[in-house]
Amino acid sequence: MQASEIRRTFLSFFEERGHRVVPSSSLIPNDPTLLLSNAGMNQFKPYFLGLQEPPYPRATSVQKCFRTVDIENVGHTARHLTFFEMLGNFSFGDYFKLDAIRWAWELSTERFGLDPERLWVTIYQDDDEAETIWRDEVGVPPERIVRMGMDDNYWSMGVAGPCGPCSEIYFDRGPEFGAPGGPAVDPDRYLEFWNLVFMQNERDDAYNILGPLPRQNIDTGMGLERMAIIQQGVPTLFETDVLRPLVERAEHLAGRRYGEDRKTDVSLRIMAEHGRATTFLMADGVLPSNEGRGYVLRRMLRRVVTHARRLGIERSVLGDLVETSVAVMSDAYPELRENRAFVEQVAASEEQRFSETYAHGIALFEQEVRAAKGRGSTAFPGEAAFRLHDTFGFQEQLTVELATEEGLAVDTEAFARLMEQQRRRAQEHAKKGDVAEGPLGEIAAAAGPTDFLGYERLESEGKVVGVVVDGEAADVASEGRRTRLVLDRTPFYAEGGGQVGDAGTIVTAGGRLRVTATRPGPGGTIVHEGVVEAGEIRRGDAAQAAVDPAWRAGSARSHTGTHVLHHTLRRLLGEHARQAGSLITPGRLRFDFTHYEGLSHDLLQEIEAQANGRLVGDDPVRTYETTFDYAKSQGATALFGEKYGEIVRVVEIGDYSVELCGGTHVVRTGEVGFLRLVSEGSIGSGFRRIEGLVGPDALRQVNLERRLLEEITEAAGGGDPATAPERVRRAMARIKELESDLGRIRRAEQQREVAALAGSATEAAPGVWAVAEVYRGRGVGELRELAQALRARLAGRPAAAVLGTVEDGKAQLVVACTDELLARGITARRLLDAAAGQIGGRGGGKDALAIGGGPNAAGIGE
Ligand code: SER
Repeated sequence: MQASEIRRTFLSFFEERGHRVVPSSSLIPNDPTLLLSNAGMNQFKPYFLGLQEPPYPRATSVQKCFRTVDIENVGHTARHLTFFEMLGNFSFGDYFKLDAIRWAWELSTERFGLDPERLWVTIYQDDDEAETIWRDEVGVPPERIVRMGMDDNYWSMGVAGPCGPCSEIYFDRGPEFGAPGGPAVDPDRYLEFWNLVFMQNERDDAYNILGPLPRQNIDTGMGLERMAIIQQGVPTLFETDVLRPLVERAEHLAGRRYGEDRKTDVSLRIMAEHGRATTFLMADGVLPSNEGRGYVLRRMLRRVVTHARRLGIERSVLGDLVETSVAVMSDAYPELRENRAFVEQVAASEEQRFSETYAHGIALFEQEVRAAKGRGSTAFPGEAAFRLHDTFGFQEQLTVELATEEGLAVDTEAFARLMEQQRRRAQEHAKKGDVAEGPLGEIAAAAGPTDFLGYERLESEGKVVGVVVDGEAADVASEGRRTRLVLDRTPFYAEGGGQVGDAGTIVTAGGRLRVTATRPGPGGTIVHEGVVEAGEIRRGDAAQAAVDPAWRAGSARSHTGTHVLHHTLRRLLGEHARQAGSLITPGRLRFDFTHYEGLSHDLLQEIEAQANGRLVGDDPVRTYETTFDYAKSQGATALFGEKYGEIVRVVEIGDYSVELCGGTHVVRTGEVGFLRLVSEGSIGSGFRRIEGLVGPDALRQVNLERRLLEEITEAAGGGDPATAPERVRRAMARIKELESDLGRIRRAEQQREVAALAGSATEAAPGVWAVAEVYRGRGVGELRELAQALRARLAGRPAAAVLGTVEDGKAQLVVACTDELLARGITARRLLDAAAGQIGGRGGGKDALAIGGGPNAAGIGE
């Protein structure tokens, strides 16, 4: 069976048994505690925890998964993967152990045709019930049922969430793969391919089991790649039909064969596995960065490039690996094909960037190797390894590998210490970013999601269902307190989709809250933040909520303006100009998009003109809700990384722009008024940012620019503003000309002065010439220049120049000697020492030129 058939077989088996086939969720989870989706059950977590009512009692899926713990191992073993596919069946309080086990057996032995004699199972140590089912219902002989402890057979997500004992199914690949004795003896020979989790408890972040879940659930996960190994009778992942083509592509790029040499294999596997995994990350909207998932992506992309260079590949490789990944995987994951141009572009720009860092990194590495060898040491410093890792993206493993080849051992302790420090910093960072806070979580659990009325109206009545003062749940918020309020329904738009939350007021019989920010809270709540301006607000109060109409109008203008701008950019630059982020505030918009190069002034003007052309078209802005699939069939632009439910909101402008968007908009584009672009620039390779203003704010900007022009005109001597730029240009050119004339005159003057001074040289001793002169008010810097020019002029004979000046009541001396005088043992420093006494000072400097000062101005002539 090929991978596609494995997926089909699995899904249809469970579909026949009443399971809803649910598409894979994005690799970017809708769960702030999780970095990347790591199991099929992630998207169902709220159902397991009883926080949300499941829309169906049974589900089945093929989920894109990512586990980062093994990145360092990928390539060095034939088993480790980062990206993988998990086939799963799920029961939300419906069937439990008995059916899950029976069906897993039936599917494995009948549809997948596995020999029952070669299957082993493990169970959780105390799970007698599972043992009984396996033994008596299914008929697995007791010697092939193995009990295992908490570490092996108790599953959780790695973060707080649902958990439970599990039972795993193993396939015995035969004696050529290792020793007999079962899964506990040899995990290579006995390949685990399916994990059945009996989700019945909840655990917190500290691994404490909190107690039973409201219902007993099932969560199973079969590794697609594992089943492919078994089905295709191949020794490792890298020979399966999902990875083999990538290995071949890497072989082709490197001009080498897989399986001939261990070192080459490591690099080829990394190129294949990481090439595919990173393609999936980018297609789901992850961008390379220095933290979180972006860091994972960057690290892996760099690992690929480094290994390609190690194989001697000088050209870029990521584009090829993306291409093969798309070809192999996009039938199952069409988003790869849809986002291909974007993925290629992100990969290419990261590769180019790293190629530059790589050269510096490898240079640093080589320098450290030379230094270590020079010291006669076999240790490679941990600090250098960390710097290579942190600054140049060289993983520890890689540095270790490279160092080993040089006969050096990386000081991994020092490295680990530095990494640990960095990890702690990262953790603190992650904690700060945590969104779901205790009291709001409780309010959400008690009150449920807030009803949002703000698409239709700006004012409404509601009830205060939650009050938080200073981070604590409270019954009452009194005057002057920073407060967060949750109502049962509200017209306030919560920050989202780039649009800032609404501002306004919430008034109760007893008090008034000035709302300055509105944000999404946990569980679909909308949280109003602000200060109680008057009186007090109590939980349970009836409230009148009113959005500031000017604020909302400004946001709506910006948001519609942004859609029009987005459309115009794609029309003028091409389909690759995709939205990468936006910030929509009243009257002002910021739009980030993907594009390779800066936009010329003319192009920007054209974009502005076309966008404004659209706005005066005064087209209707229609919004409606529909299914995700229908919206996509209408060509709606969806955002990377956004999680869309089955029902989505579509914003359509005229007949040209269709976007999935939850934001608030104007009714007709004419209301936006006028869009003024104010800046355009780079925000990282391959990404541009445009900022603009709309409506009255755009007008204010234009007035500001006009004022500026008036001031420039005034500075240029008044008159017609139209000629002001030319006049300023001419004035600048004239200043340059005059400066250069002045320079010439000064140089000529100095030459004359030097010639005259040189001519005044007297024979101070036989064959020794001297020039001495005292100035007043000339700076010592000027004298220094003069002395140097004199030294040059007097060259050829033994001569000294001694120049003095009085500056701010202090005496200064500059002495210069020609080389011929120096040859006689007389230096400027010695002459200055001899003279400095007269001015009550001391001197210093070089043999050829010395400068000194002293307080006794009267002594300068002497
Ligand atoms: N969640 C379990 C796992 O990931 C089974 O799906 O192994």
